[in-house]
Amino acid sequence: MSIRKAPKHMRKPEQLRSHQWYGTDGLRTFSHRARTRQLGYLPEEHLGKPVIAILNTWSDINPCHSHLRERAQAVKRGVWQAGGFPLEFPVSTLSETFQKPTPMLYRNLLAMETEELLRSYPVDGAVLMGGCDKSTPALLMGAATADLPVVFVPAGPMLPGHWRNEVLGSGTDMWKYWDDKRAGLIGDCELSELESGLARSPGHCMTMGTASTLTAAAEALGVTVPGASSIPAVDSGHDRMAAASGLRIVELVWQDLRLSKILTREAYEDAVPTVLALGGSTNAVIHLTAMAGRSGVKLTLDDFDRIARTVPVLANVRPGGRYLMEDFHFAGGLPAFLAQIKDLLHLDRPTVAHATLREQLEGALVHNPDVIRPLDNPLAEEGGVAVLRGNLCPDGAVIKHIAAERHLLKHTGPAVVFDDYRTMQRTINDPGLGITEDTVLVLRGSGPLGGPGMPEYGMLPIPDHLLKKGVRDMVRISDARMSGTSYGACVLHVAPESYVGGPLALVRTGDLITLDVEARALRLEVGDEELERRRALWQAPPPRYGRGYGALYQEQITQADTGCDFRFLAQAGEVPEPYAG
Ligand code: FES
Ligand code: MG
Repeated sequence: MSIRKAPKHMRKPEQLRSHQWYGTDGLRTFSHRARTRQLGYLPEEHLGKPVIAILNTWSDINPCHSHLRERAQAVKRGVWQAGGFPLEFPVSTLSETFQKPTPMLYRNLLAMETEELLRSYPVDGAVLMGGCDKSTPALLMGAATADLPVVFVPAGPMLPGHWRNEVLGSGTDMWKYWDDKRAGLIGDCELSELESGLARSPGHCMTMGTASTLTAAAEALGVTVPGASSIPAVDSGHDRMAAASGLRIVELVWQDLRLSKILTREAYEDAVPTVLALGGSTNAVIHLTAMAGRSGVKLTLDDFDRIARTVPVLANVRPGGRYLMEDFHFAGGLPAFLAQIKDLLHLDRPTVAHATLREQLEGALVHNPDVIRPLDNPLAEEGGVAVLRGNLCPDGAVIKHIAAERHLLKHTGPAVVFDDYRTMQRTINDPGLGITEDTVLVLRGSGPLGGPGMPEYGMLPIPDHLLKKGVRDMVRISDARMSGTSYGACVLHVAPESYVGGPLALVRTGDLITLDVEARALRLEVGDEELERRRALWQAPPPRYGRGYGALYQEQITQADTGCDFRFLAQAGEVPEPYAG
């Protein structure tokens, strides 16, 4: 059997994990080699080479990843050229648009699939391909636990949308124009044109939504090749980035540079100011907390709030700013952005591409200071997310205050309460509810268990009669999440959620609620005694699922403030390597 000669100072082929499957003597090994011949490979093509699993979240249903089947070929090209053996593994796709009740219900399932695939097959290193919202945390959570060398290939943003000479942001402008339709400002004809203009190429949302925020976090963590996260999905540069990732992963395997050496406490401490300075999605708070947990790093809501107070928002990208991801890319992308905040970062930590982050950022220049702002001309003085506390959210809640109308950041108003999303949809325009612009809209039953899956219901619609009066923002409170492309004075992730008896379950229509972002406070202006009386009357709702994955989910899911991982996945403990002989 021919074995590739390992370069000096590196691991030998016999030390590769895959050697157990292919290189030892025995019946099983013989069978693995015979089956690889069945796949059409010569012994010379793979024996003694690092086996690189390409985990691909491509699917016909997922427009954010529809280019990844083709793009995997570029990754393979890189792997072959570096002397590796690429094998593509289709894994579950999490489509933010199509999967119901929400792909958040399935984030941990993809994380499990990722971990178990990497463990159970002859894999020495992996390239993870994804980008639509939960795909990035799911793939990285599973890979962090499996702890092999890994490079992440971000799906890349789609091209900017266009309509009647206006540049459109996916998500953000969908909400905006839907409100315009409800306000009677546009009709069916405009809407059908918008349908074709909002999303005009493969790729994930091109605003600073959850997808762009999380792929930027992946780059800041150091698990992508430099500059990868903002390359437009259909740019030829995306092919080159994919090939570079394939070239790189083979070297990482020979160096045995595992994910645990990249995903350190310092790396997470750098990812937090990155997402905050980007004015990124509130979802990043949940996902980074869960990802860090898989790396044995404890991130808390207070970490986010503390860091947010010291970090200005520098990315002028929608929904908080003006531009789109393509502008951000040509303004210098994440390397130029990180160079702006380098004093906040740990520059001596390694990345998959360089020995230090410092080296990686060398020579990174901002080409458009209106898109990537300098520190002395920020978009906002403080990072985009504030963590609220109070008797309505003992375990915290978050608000993306830079995307809200300023006059609402300190507001007291009477609550109108909806027990679930469907009731809210059915009744929100009912004049009998007496909703005014001062009302605080409260939605419950939308948390990790109640949703289930904590759907992105948090940007509750403004009632039609107020829209027609020109009202575009109101205080809204829920235990749901909100799309990263959304905006408004929406208090999210209220913990504990109402379904488990959190105080949100006790609010009644007419109660006064105070939001004070500067004081980081969210208060239900009802006395403790009365709340106790209501608590005694509260009845826990029945379980959502009687069987299946949902039953496992409801047994294991944690609340928003700790990242919504499964308890049995987040806990420490050993999992043995499978015996391959
Ligand atoms: Fe996939 Fe927005 S729908 S990233
Ligand atoms: Mg989204």
